[in-house]
Amino acid sequence: MIIDKIIDNQVTAVKHWQDTCDNFIHSFNTFFDSSSAIFNNYYKLDPVISGTAKSSTSQSSRHHKQIKLKTAIITGGIGGIGTAICKRLSSDGNRVISTYISSEKTKAMAWKKELEQDGYDVEVYECDVSDYQSCQKFAALIEDKYDHIDVLVNAAGITRDSQLKKMDKENWDAVLDTNLDSVFNITRSFINGMLKNGYGRIINISSVNGQKGQFGQTNYSTAKAGMIGFTRSLALEMAEKGITVNCVCPGYVGTPMVEAIREDILDGIVQQIPMKRLAKVEEIADAVAFLADSNSAYITGTEIAVNGGLWMG
Ligand code: CAA
Repeated sequence: MIIDKIIDNQVTAVKHWQDTCDNFIHSFNTFFDSSSAIFNNYYKLDPVISGTAKSSTSQSSRHHKQIKLKTAIITGGIGGIGTAICKRLSSDGNRVISTYISSEKTKAMAWKKELEQDGYDVEVYECDVSDYQSCQKFAALIEDKYDHIDVLVNAAGITRDSQLKKMDKENWDAVLDTNLDSVFNITRSFINGMLKNGYGRIINISSVNGQKGQFGQTNYSTAKAGMIGFTRSLALEMAEKGITVNCVCPGYVGTPMVEAIREDILDGIVQQIPMKRLAKVEEIADAVAFLADSNSAYITGTEIAVNGGLWMG
């Protein structure tokens, strides 16, 4: 009897000890998971192959190098496609900075507030991307604050559609200045900082209409095709420097820019799209995020078409 009692007591004690151990392991796992989440929020396991790494031996260091939070600039980030890109790059752990022009200050402040309420960490700076001096000042400010940038998305763009026979010189200049000169102005202002850091992702938002041409868009198609030439040439100059340069070429996307097209004309365009629908802004942001990732180190000088099959050239 006494022996049975002793054995019972010992079994209970062992069970108690096991429960205590289980609780401890559970608590440790919970602590470890939450610490990892916090850690991952601040640091990304980064497989950056720097500009000086030239052989496959660099593969051995893939997935080991740690790089702090990346800084991404999105010109025109407060626009339709730009906003989706900002949200996505912010969700992917980048510090996101958008530019705006002075006439859009109120809109930019409201935009920042709205995104912050939704949990995105974004900064906005006034910069007229069509003005070289403005870009130089902006770059000096950012590099003073963050030393260098890692990702540059040239997304600022406007349309002034009309047939060439009716096009004002003003509308030619406005589109070329904002959509193409801007790419030189801003990229030129940040490129030396990227070179010094030996790392960069430059993504130019071109257009299907820069690839195929479009009735009523001699100005816009010229600017967007120009971005492709710029991209390929700069990609060659940067190929050994750890900096990739690529284009995303959206088709017709559900943004105010496209919704401004006369309804009957837009219906006709949608009928020509094999997928018979406009792109979602998030679908463009997905392609940008892919190119912006440090793992996309071997992709340069190319165009990713996101156009529902509208152009396969
Ligand atoms: N191909 C050949 N002929 C065409 C044509 C086409 N695609 N579109 C129109 N025409 C002809 C018309 O049949 C018409 O001929 P008739 O005079 O013999 O009847 C003539 O051209 C005039 O047509 P419109 O009424 O359209 O001309 P308009 O001067 O009033 O308007 C326009 C011109 C504003 C450019 C208008 O055609 C239009 O809005 N087109 C759409 C342009 C477009 O796709 N813009 C994209 C904006 S979004 C964007 O750019 C984002 C992106 O990256 C895709």
